[in-house]
This record gives sequence, structure tokens and C-alpha cells, in this order.
Amino acid sequence: MSAAKPPQISPSSSSMVSIRGSLLTLAILTLISFTFLSLKSLHSPSSSPPTTVLNVVEEEAVTENVERREEMSEVYHTPEIFRLNYAEMEKKFKVYIYPDGDPNTFYQTPRKLTGKYSSEGYFFQNIRESRFRTEDPDQAHLFFIPISCHKMRGKGTSYENMTITVKDYVESLIAKYPYWNKTLGADHFLVTCHDVGVRAFEGLPFLIKNSIRVVCSPSYDVGFIPHKDVALPQVLQPFALPAGGNDLENRTNLGFWAGGRNSKIRVILARVWENDTELDISNSRISRAIGPLVYQKRFYSNKFCICPGGSQVNSARITDSIHYGCVPVIISDYYDLPFNDIIDWRKFAVVLREKDVYQLKQILKDIPDAEFVRLHKELVKVQKHFQWNTPPIKYDAFHMVMYELWLRHHVIKY
Ligand SMILES: *[C@@H]1O[C@H](CO)[C@@H](O)[C@H](O)[C@H]1NC(C)=O
Ligand SMILES: *[C@@H]1O[C@H](CO)[C@@H](O)[C@H](O)[C@H]1NC(C)=O
Ligand SMILES: *[C@@H]1O[C@H](CO)[C@@H](O)[C@H](O)[C@H]1NC(C)=O
Ligand SMILES: *[C@@H]1O[C@H](CO)[C@@H](O)[C@H](O)[C@H]1NC(C)=O
Repeated sequence: MSAAKPPQISPSSSSMVSIRGSLLTLAILTLISFTFLSLKSLHSPSSSPPTTVLNVVEEEAVTENVERREEMSEVYHTPEIFRLNYAEMEKKFKVYIYPDGDPNTFYQTPRKLTGKYSSEGYFFQNIRESRFRTEDPDQAHLFFIPISCHKMRGKGTSYENMTITVKDYVESLIAKYPYWNKTLGADHFLVTCHDVGVRAFEGLPFLIKNSIRVVCSPSYDVGFIPHKDVALPQVLQPFALPAGGNDLENRTNLGFWAGGRNSKIRVILARVWENDTELDISNSRISRAIGPLVYQKRFYSNKFCICPGGSQVNSARITDSIHYGCVPVIISDYYDLPFNDIIDWRKFAVVLREKDVYQLKQILKDIPDAEFVRLHKELVKVQKHFQWNTPPIKYDAFHMVMYELWLRHHVIKY
């Protein structure tokens, strides 16, 4: 592929170093700023801060500290680092969008903002209406390759032809602009929610090896690289009914699932539990003929909603459960859950191995009421991270994806 590579540190290892480095710096800054703040609260407010860096961190901490401390619950692995790093991202992060490609075919614009692949459309739309876009490539931390696999599928393009289209497009960018060659793609990213999109990048080995792939199907066994790639939550928007919240009184049923049997785990789930009197498992979709929104309303009346992988590990059922306030029970081996380096899924979901399906009912019944109440409370707190808005708003799905990209951005350029 490339005859003359410039001598360089391997992009993945140097980006790892930069992530570790910036986390370490942040941890130190956080520590220093807390020491400083607690000293400061004891002494007069006129004492001047020793450095400008501290000054910035301190201002952030003072303005947002009080109300955020409540909100930034245990659901985050490291709440303070997330809060500070997020604030830094909002201030600094810049993305350059390649302007090439006819917007009427596969490029630049989203296909639509509805349906099960709407996360892809929202990202394409949101990045343009956000503060992160720059017209100046020299200011950019990352470069967005705006090619939409969902749109290609919508126009009936075969998987093989998608691969060719992606390859031709990226190669045209490599020939025309100097940016790709500086890192061999390590500061470039693509976004696809359609599951065949993951395979559409196969024509360019460097794209898979170096670039950041933001995908809805982040399974370890389809070439997803967790420390480099980003899991996009699959969200079926618009939601048919409002978000669940303080509604525990109505969650009288133990667990629920209704869906097609398009995977091994679903076949087993249905076979083992379909006639159970406590678990509401039906091995077929709920027909609309029964009544309006019967399927969605079930999410309000159950404590747990079972989310087995289908043809892919991911499913919009997970974000449906989060939205309607039903604790998701995720049954997928090899699923790299969205934002799991920021939020702790075990605080608001039940994450099981596929072999646990046989003990499913006992596992759920063994969860004490107090623990369920805690799971539900944390679940309501993360709802905002799994919703798209246009224009995007703070801490929503778009900003969480941007934060994941910020964590992975490449610092060293040649
Ligand atoms: C793939 O693209 C070629 C060239 O444009 C076209 O002739 C062919 O019909 C396409 N194949 C499919 C399955 O879409
Ligand atoms: C980037 O590198 C490739 C392979 O070495 C080369 O063909 C291409 O012309 C380079 N792009 C630019 C803009 O120089
Ligand atoms: C519980 O269900 C009843 C009947 O459908 C409804 O009127 C009530 O608002 C629900 N309670 C909550 C907290 O959602
Ligand atoms: C569930 O009930 C149906 C109808 O009685 C029966 O055909 C089926 O075999 C039962 N399934 C299991 C797992 O017992």
C-alpha cells in the first residue's frame, strides 16, 4: 500500500500514550485544584492563584461545582476527571469536515433523522450545527470523512460497491489534501450506524488500523478496537412515548422481551422462558393490531427489560429501555457498550453473559428491591446521554460521542 512511510511512532501506541498522559495530567490538576480550593475556602478570597492553568481549572470548579457534584453521581468511573475534561473539550475541540463529495449522493448530509439508524443522521447534522466545526484544517484536532453508509444502503448499493465507493472517496482525499499522510489516518474518523457500514471500510487497511471508526455495532469479534474506535449508541428516535422517571409503583412485572428470533441467544431465550408466568417473554413482535403502542407501554410496567443481541450485538431496545425507565438486562458476549469508559453500566443495567440465560429468572429475582431502586435511580440520570437533539445540547448523545473522540484525538503531528 504505502512504499515510503515516514519514520514515526506507531499511531495507536502514541495516541495511547497521549490519552494516558492527558488523564494523568488531569488527575494531577484535579488534585492540585482541590487542595488549592480547600485552602482557598479557608483563607481570604483575594489570594492570587499561582499559575494561569490553575486559574482556569479553578474558575470551572467554582462555577459548576455545587450543582454538578449532586448530578455527577457514582455512575461515572471518575466524575471529576470527566467533568473537567468535558469542559476542556467544549472549549478547545475542533473538527474539520472534508467538503468533497456530492451531498445528493452519499456525502455530507444525513439520510434521515428517524428510524433505527437515526444516530448516524443526527451525528452528520449535529456536527455541522455544533461549535466543534472549523473551516480551518490547521486548527483541527480531528478530520471527519463525511461518507454515509446509511445513505448508500438507502440507495440500494450493495456491500461490495459500498467498499469500492468508500475506498475511492478516501483515496481521492489522500491525493488531494496533505492531512491524511501526516498521521496515515490516525486523526481521521468515520461514523456509521448501519451494521454493514463496519464492513464497508474494508477496502482500506490503514483506515481500519489507524482511523477512528464510530459504529453502532461495536463487537469485539468484528474487528472493533476498543481503545481506538467508538461505540455509537443505537437510538430509535423519535421516541413514541415520553421518558419514564419516578414511576416505580407501576413496575409490577418482573421482566419483558418481545422480538424476532434472529440470533442464537434469542432462540434460546424464547425456548426457555416463553411460557413462564413471571417473565413476559414472547417469541414474536407484538402486533400493532392489539392496540396502539402496546409494545412501548410494556417498558413502563416492567422492572427489567431483556436486551439480547440480534443479528448484531447492539439493539435499539437498550436505549428504548433506558428512555422508558426499564432497567436493561444486556445479554451479549463481546459487546463493547457505548461510553463504557466514562459511565459504569453495572450501576444502571444488568450485564450478563449469554450462558446466564438459563438462570435469567433467578438472577433477576435475586436482585433485592433496594438494589433495583438504586439501578432505576441511576438509569434516569443517564437518560440524557442516550438522546439526540437538534441542535445538540450539553451531555447528550452527540456530546458524549464528541467526548469519546476528544479522548482519542491524536496530539503529535508530523
Ligand atoms: C456495482 O457497481 C457497478 C458499477 O457501477 C454496477 O454495474 C453494478 O450493478 C453494481 N452492483 C450492485 C450489486 O449494485
Ligand atoms: C500521500 O501519500 C500517498 C502515498 O505515498 C501519495 O500517493 C499521495 O500523493 C500523498 N498525498 C499528498 C497530498 O501528497
Ligand atoms: C401509573 O399508572 C396509572 C394508570 O395507568 C397512571 O395513571 C399513573 O400516572 C402511573 N404512575 C406513574 C408514576 O407513572
Ligand atoms: C409453551 O406452550 C406451548 C403451547 O402450550 C407449547 O407448544 C410449547 O412447547 C411450550 N414451550 C415450552 C418451552 O414449554
